[in-house]
Amino acid sequence: MKINYEQAKETRRDARFVYNIRYSKEVIAVSQSDNIPDFEDHFNWFKDNFQQYRFIIIDNKRVGFLRKDSSNYLGISLKKCCRNKGIGKEVLKTSKGRAIILTSNPRSFHCFMRSGWKLEGFYVTKE
Ligand SMILES: CC(C)(COP(=O)(O)OP(=O)(O)OC[C@H]1O[C@@H](n2cnc3c(N)ncnc32)[C@H](O)[C@@H]1OP(=O)(O)O)[C@@H](O)C(=O)NCCC(=O)NCCS
Repeated sequence: MKINYEQAKETRRDARFVYNIRYSKEVIAVSQSDNIPDFEDHFNWFKDNFQQYRFIIIDNKRVGFLRKDSSNYLGISLKKCCRNKGIGKEVLKTSKGRAIILTSNPRSFHCFMRSGWKLEGFYVTKE
C-alpha cells in the first residue's frame, strides 16, 4: 500500500475535511471531549493550527488525517469507509510521538500496539 502525505493548508476545504471526520458521531464517541463546535468556530481555530495536520493520501485520495500538536501528541482519524483496511497500521508504523487512547477505543489501541508503539503508563480520571 503506497501512502503519501499532504500538508494541510489554511483553507475552508481543508478545515471542512478535518471537521467532517473529527466531529462525526463515531469519532466523538472515542474522544476525550464530546463538545462539537460550529464549523465557523472550528475554521477560526483551524486557521491558527492547520500546520499540525497532514492528510493521508492513497491513490490520490484523502483517506484521513494525522495531527501532531505542539506537545508531540499524535492523533489519527480515517474516513469511515477507509477503516479496518490496514491503513492505520501502516501510517502508525512510520509515525512517532505520544497518544492518548480511551479504553472505549480497543481498535485504536490494538492498532497502535501492532505498529510498534509501547504502553508507557495509565491515564486515570475521576468525575
Ligand atoms: C483507529 C484507526 C486510526 C485505526 O486505523 P484502521 O485503518 O481502521 O486500523 P487497521 O485496519 O490498520 O487495524 C485495525 C486493527 O484493529 C483490530 N480491531 C478492529 N476492531 C477491533 C476491536 N473492536 N477491538 C480490538 N481490535 C480491533 C483489527 O483486527 C486490526 O488488527 P489486526 O491487523 O491485528 O487484525 C481508525 O479506525 C480510525 O480512524 N478510527 C476512528 C478515529 C479514532 O479512533 N482515532 C484514534 C483516536 S486515539
